[in-house]
Amino acid sequence: MDKIVALCKRRGFIYPGSEIYGGLSGTWDYGPLGAELKRNIKNQWWQDVVQLREDVIGIDSAVMMNPKVWEASGHLEAFVDPLVECKVCHERFRADNLDQIKEHDKSHKGQATWTDPQKFNLLVKAYLGVLEEKQSQIFLRGEITQGVHVNFKNVLDSTRIKLPFGIAQIGKAFRNEITPGNFTFRSREFEQMEIQYFIKPEEKVGEKWFEYWKSFWMDWYTGLGISKENLRFKNHEEKAHYAREAVDIEYQAPWGWSEFMGIHHRGDWDLSRHEEFSGQNMKFKDLEGAEYLPWDIESSAGVDRSLLFFLSDAYKQEDNRIYLRLHPKLAPIKAAVFPLLANKPELVKTARKIYLDLKSCLMVAWDDRGNIGGRYASQDEIGTPFCITVDFKSLEDEAVTVRDRNTTKQDRIKISGLKEYLNGKIY
Ligand code: GAP
Repeated sequence: MDKIVALCKRRGFIYPGSEIYGGLSGTWDYGPLGAELKRNIKNQWWQDVVQLREDVIGIDSAVMMNPKVWEASGHLEAFVDPLVECKVCHERFRADNLDQIKEHDKSHKGQATWTDPQKFNLLVKAYLGVLEEKQSQIFLRGEITQGVHVNFKNVLDSTRIKLPFGIAQIGKAFRNEITPGNFTFRSREFEQMEIQYFIKPEEKVGEKWFEYWKSFWMDWYTGLGISKENLRFKNHEEKAHYAREAVDIEYQAPWGWSEFMGIHHRGDWDLSRHEEFSGQNMKFKDLEGAEYLPWDIESSAGVDRSLLFFLSDAYKQEDNRIYLRLHPKLAPIKAAVFPLLANKPELVKTARKIYLDLKSCLMVAWDDRGNIGGRYASQDEIGTPFCITVDFKSLEDEAVTVRDRNTTKQDRIKISGLKEYLNGKIY
């Protein structure tokens, strides 16, 4: 894990938030490569669940919502973690985080005494307007989900979509986590990618779709390169207040099996509560004229957690070589272009032409520093799947060498066919 954290900082994937002021616990900033990787994950997700499907549409709702939303959704009452405080130094921990509590005990040589667990609400408060008083207090969304439920009727009315269908969304969520940690794994500001998939409220239909989304996501993550043996399903023993059934996909993180994403059977919890609290009819009317509140099978994944686990799974150290075996679709840079020697204008000119041409359709990098070995190592470390070298022979045969990151094998490819070659390998 230390190696991944160091690599992220050094190469510009992830930096600690507000670092020059000593940081802000639980916040992270994404550097140039991290921003690319994150965008690729989100784009791939959106393409696979919205663009390529006929039964899922996407929305983008506001982070700030009427506080009534959180009353209706049950978060004001039930979105809580148990908190204990050390009476010696007043440091606070999650009561269920026994490892941290044990560690803390040790730091006081076994003299620490603890308060009884209290319920600590994770919603982050904010104030709108000029007065910091109760009326202007709002909450930053603790899950992106509610933006879908409050817009359920709007989506139905504006699209005429029929059950079963999903509403997808990607966006920021905020939680006042008691103990953020494990790098970006538990942050206070993070992004989620979710589908609320609405179905006919029948047990058998619910079971079918719950199983469907479980295997869909397992296939999605393995299809994008995560090793099967590092993933498993885990049934929730303690379910969230909204869930009838819940299962996590867990990843074998460097610190142990950890929640990657969740599939939750939310039943009609959200729509019925919003119907009750808003007084608006939230029912779906089917073709036969029957009206009912659909059930919701939710898929909820963290973008940051996905990014961390894609990185962690891709990190390889083999034969004195460190490389990120990222799926080419996710790799921040798809190809790097080098002139064999930086001081040969004819090589540089041809290489620049190739670089600028590829840049119009792919994220590509330019490197003319040091020797070729060093440039390969530098691109390997950030997961660039292809390195293209213009050598003296290129000036005669109008071809270049393309070196594959995983195998380190080199192909000789005609410059005129380079785009097609790369596109075929990446997408
Ligand atoms: N809408 C349901 C929901 O929010 P959740 O299990 O609380 O369910 C879903 O969160 C996913 O969001 C998690 O599986 C994880 O990937 C991500 N997530 C939750 N809390 C997080 C945090 N503090 N930091 C980073 N990611 C988080």
